[in-house]
Amino acid sequence: MSEILRVAVGLGDRAYDVLVGRGALAAARAELVAHFPRGRAILVTDRTVAALHLDTVSAHLAAAGLRVEPVIVEPGETSKSWAGLEAVVDAFLDLNIERSEAVIALGGGVIGDLTGFAAAVTKRGVNFIQIPTTLLSQVDSSVGGKTGINTRQGKNFAGSFHQPGLVIADRDLLATLPGRERRSGYAEIVKAALIGDAPLFQQLEAAGADVLDGTGLDAAVAAAIAFKARIVAADEREAGVRALLNLGHTFGHAFEADAPRDAIRHGEAVAVGTALAFAYSVHRGDCRADDAARVIAHLRTVGLPASPGELAHADWDAASLVARMRDDKKNRDGHITLILARAIGDAFIDPAVDEADLLTFMETQLS
Ligand code: NAD
Ligand code: GLY
Repeated sequence: MSEILRVAVGLGDRAYDVLVGRGALAAARAELVAHFPRGRAILVTDRTVAALHLDTVSAHLAAAGLRVEPVIVEPGETSKSWAGLEAVVDAFLDLNIERSEAVIALGGGVIGDLTGFAAAVTKRGVNFIQIPTTLLSQVDSSVGGKTGINTRQGKNFAGSFHQPGLVIADRDLLATLPGRERRSGYAEIVKAALIGDAPLFQQLEAAGADVLDGTGLDAAVAAAIAFKARIVAADEREAGVRALLNLGHTFGHAFEADAPRDAIRHGEAVAVGTALAFAYSVHRGDCRADDAARVIAHLRTVGLPASPGELAHADWDAASLVARMRDDKKNRDGHITLILARAIGDAFIDPAVDEADLLTFMETQLS
């Protein structure tokens, strides 16, 4: 077991810890027990993760004296739906869940978001534990308590803030992650650096493509989690500074919504969205062109897309994408809110961008 880092998410009576590092699951055994007074752990996962990791995770839980009741759903965004939510809540109720017991989300962001929302609404709220198995879920979605599902109107349009009781980000679980998923998760680390940690971005740049497999990844994961924990503690409900975590996401969610389901990865959409946020900041005169060029170069160095044409699905329409951005949850008073940048590590919120100018910019980007 390597050194386990403990990152606190300081939220008063809803505070919790994120255990980060290789062997975090073994290190967490003792403190897991308190969450399962009936000696059993209802655990939601997807079929892919179940085949790869359910036995190992069950063995860790058994060593802590816990019996696992698995609830297995299909992988992919299809499960993050009203039907998927119904299936998971029904499974909890069929297992006669009590409000005193927590459930476990073992998987990527889809499983974390779905299980967290199911936990939030089952019997008016049961606790949940996140055991994230993708890089994206370890550095971003497992921390902060945003849970939810997609609706036909858009990504994450139904959900709740429901904080987990513990997050166990064990690097060993990432060993089976395909390269595309690894790169997708890495986009959220880059995002964190670009929002407010310029030295981290310099480290990532210096490591180049090696960062995805080398030892530098552990430090980058820890830095991104700590960064997110600070922002969530300062603004749990996204009244202000937490909106910065959406750098690249307003563009990104529009691409995801306009692509066939599961055609592009969330992190790929965020990577292109982040590149566009910097390019648009340059276009408006907010940011220097060489900062945007560094962002785009780094994304490409690690194999991430940095323009709409580099996404697997490339049949985009500027007006449709801007219409999607108009529906974004951050928007107020009918204006599109965007997270833009003054420089690397210095993001800011523009609560009312000029929509006609944004449309012209998007048309240029797609031409
Ligand atoms: P995902 O959960 O769909 O996982 C990606 C794929 O990897 C799936 O097919 C899964 O079966 C597989 N997988 C998971 N772990 C694996 C492992 N260890 N080895 C091999 N395969 C594995 O996708 P994701 O990228 O983790 O999460 C994306 C979702 O997270 C989106 O729905 C997005 O909206 C959401 N999200 C939520 C937040 C939040 O704050 N709640 C933040 C960012 C993203
Ligand atoms: N991923 C954005 C947030 O957690 O606020």
